[in-house]
Amino acid sequence: MEKSAKKPVVMSGIRPTGILHLGSYFGALQNYVRMQNEYECYFMVADLHSLTTHPDTKSLRSNVLHVISEYLACGLDPDKAALYCQSAVHETSELYLYLNTLAYKGELEKTTTFKDKARLQPQNINAALLTYPSLMAADILLHRALYVPVGKDQEQHLEMARNFASRFNHRYGEIFPEPVAFNFGQELVKVPSLDGTGKMSKSENQNATLYLSDDDDLIQKKIMKAKTDEGPKAPHSPMPNYIENIFQLLALTSTRDVYEKFESGYNNCTIRYGDLKKQLAEDMIRFITPIREKAQDIRNNETYMKEVMEKGAAKAAESAKRTMQLTREAIGIKYF
Ligand code: TYM
Repeated sequence: MEKSAKKPVVMSGIRPTGILHLGSYFGALQNYVRMQNEYECYFMVADLHSLTTHPDTKSLRSNVLHVISEYLACGLDPDKAALYCQSAVHETSELYLYLNTLAYKGELEKTTTFKDKARLQPQNINAALLTYPSLMAADILLHRALYVPVGKDQEQHLEMARNFASRFNHRYGEIFPEPVAFNFGQELVKVPSLDGTGKMSKSENQNATLYLSDDDDLIQKKIMKAKTDEGPKAPHSPMPNYIENIFQLLALTSTRDVYEKFESGYNNCTIRYGDLKKQLAEDMIRFITPIREKAQDIRNNETYMKEVMEKGAAKAAESAKRTMQLTREAIGIKYF
């Protein structure tokens, strides 16, 4: 029988540094779910990356399980995609070391996320924080992945992963595909925060971020508090940032009709922001509630979550072992 062609490999991950939010969903998770049917998928929880900011590791385990429960609640199927924890695949750390020999101090210091973190934690600018992009490249290259579904904020890390792959191939022989950030041919997503500044985030800006585990009251409260003004004074005025953000959020979970109704209200100056926010809250609650409830049910079954992670880790380790054998041979690390 003819062997079927190998599916392209997809890899991505999320740090367990807090609970997932609309940005994690629309920037990443939604595409994980869409891709699991067509590709060979590896989706992990990046616990090693989270150590670079020195979290309280007493809650690491429950944070990891929380992310896994949300992966499952959003529709990831452990029979289709490998769902695992980064630290369970030890080959990651070996590849990280090889890639670090190809990553230069100057480029690592120029990485936006490094500069942001260094500003936030000047007392803890550790070497793993600096080499965060090499670890992320190791996660991806470990499975020789081609597509990496991520949000806009990860674009620079992907560019670095491509550079590291290309340097490795150039020095030691063609082993790695050059991975690309993936969003079905569309621009990468950035889900804005509710207060008109920056993006939704796991650990910052919590009152302006909608989490997948927020209850209905909290969703309502956060949205009703979003900044607005007295409304446009002239037809077809440009939207201020904070109003544009509300419209962007509306586009994510409301119907096209609803969006167009409020958009024309804005353009002919009849919009009432109270109604806009009420509608947004209603649609967000309809979207988040089933995910929150399903994730809670899944968390009540820890045995199941452990089984999922064990099965995912075994599949990921198998793929990692294959890649590392090729990698060591290419470098010349094979003595017996
Ligand atoms: P992390 O944990 O910060 O975010 C997880 C995913 O969610 C996306 N995201 C957003 N997308 C749109 N709008 C937002 N407001 C928003 N906030 C978060 C991120 O782009 C990301 O896709 N370094 C990674 C984790 C990682 C990884 C990897 C990713 C480790 N190894 C290998 C891909 C491949 C990170 O910190 O993501």
